[in-house]
Amino acid sequence: MGRYQPKTVLLGLAVAMAAILLTVALGASLLLSVLALFAGAASALFITRRASGEAEVADEAPIIAAPPIEAAPILDAVEDPLLLVRERRVVLANAAARAVLGEHIADADVRLAIRHPAAAERLANVAEAEASGIELLGIGGSERRWEMSVARLPDGARLVRLTDRSRVHAAEQMRTDFIANASHELRTPLATVLGFLETLLDDPDAPPEARNRFLKIMFDEATRMRQIVNDLISLSRIEAERYTLPTEPVDLLPVLSEVDNTLENVVKDRKSEIRIENLAGETLIPGDPAQLHQLFSNLVANALKYGREGRPVTVRIENSGPEMLKVDVIDEGEGIAPEHLPRLTERFYRVDAGRSRSVGGTGLGLAIVKHIAGRHLGRLDIRSTQGIGTTVSVYLPRWTGALS
Ligand SMILES: Nc1ncnc2c1ncn2[C@@H]1O[C@H](COP(=O)(O)OP(=O)(O)O)[C@@H](O)[C@H]1O
Ligand SMILES: [Mg+2]
Repeated sequence: MGRYQPKTVLLGLAVAMAAILLTVALGASLLLSVLALFAGAASALFITRRASGEAEVADEAPIIAAPPIEAAPILDAVEDPLLLVRERRVVLANAAARAVLGEHIADADVRLAIRHPAAAERLANVAEAEASGIELLGIGGSERRWEMSVARLPDGARLVRLTDRSRVHAAEQMRTDFIANASHELRTPLATVLGFLETLLDDPDAPPEARNRFLKIMFDEATRMRQIVNDLISLSRIEAERYTLPTEPVDLLPVLSEVDNTLENVVKDRKSEIRIENLAGETLIPGDPAQLHQLFSNLVANALKYGREGRPVTVRIENSGPEMLKVDVIDEGEGIAPEHLPRLTERFYRVDAGRSRSVGGTGLGLAIVKHIAGRHLGRLDIRSTQGIGTTVSVYLPRWTGALS
């Protein structure tokens, strides 16, 4: 295969010479002229091969490679930091690498470019064969984590790639924390129940008042455990459904009146009242009625429990632009210090754990609220002024008539 007629070669040479003459005449450098020679020869060969009707043969090695593609723009288009290293010198660094490591890295010694002991050790050994990636902590920000992998290219250069593992790591950390927190939350009441059971078993003739007191404590602790388990189940169900949009038209007003009914006892307890105000007109949204009930009962229960005794809780529905409804749940409690606000929707996060427990809280209420709002393509906003009160706003897309 790969047979070329003298005629073909001559034609190729002629095209190449013409290309050289043309580029030199146009004032191009010798390098460009040589490139033109190659390009000309390649195209001539290609044209004549096609013209002679010779079939392409798959196993035939290409005679002349395609013109080289410039590497820099391609590397720049990759989001991961990439360095092309020859011997120990950085010969090319993409835009992401320059952004993370600094502009100075071009042409620098690679150990200065990535100032990290583990990276320096790996990169110092020019001859080292490819190995699995290593983890680097603290480059481009103290909390950032990277995986560095090194691939050897056919010409001996090395391609160093940093993959951002910060988010994956944060997700793993959250999962571990969550399991630790959930176990801890359940273990505490369980220990109390077991302790009192032991006492009762050890002393079967305990006076009835003491017995009843112990039984009451055990009942309360068991109830708390059931509440935690119920909230955890809710949370995992809502998470499992997070990609299925609710499509049923739900009127928020009856949902809110129902929340009012469910919380009747808490309202009495706190000598409060729930005022529902509708400033929006139509209050239909595409929703999941049970989840919306859960969302607003969590918020209103918080407003009642952490609000000031004897003061009302206001639930106000307003329009927020043409497509969204905003529901504010407003209390007149002590408020929340600003440093806690960003963390309130984390699972088991409480400002005052003792107080939360004493009012039957699990620390999961706002996490559930956030997930339900998210599933409804909505969002949450919490504002609070200490000494004045807290307003939690839930933004939800309106019902537009068509099933989305
Ligand atoms: N309206 C509010 N006023 C003051 N603090 C609040 C309010 N709502 C929530 N919080 C604080 O946020 C924490 C988390 O709320 P939540 O997730 O509902 O858990 P829980 O009520 O079970 O403790 C509460 O423990 C409380 O400290
Ligand atoms: Mg709560």
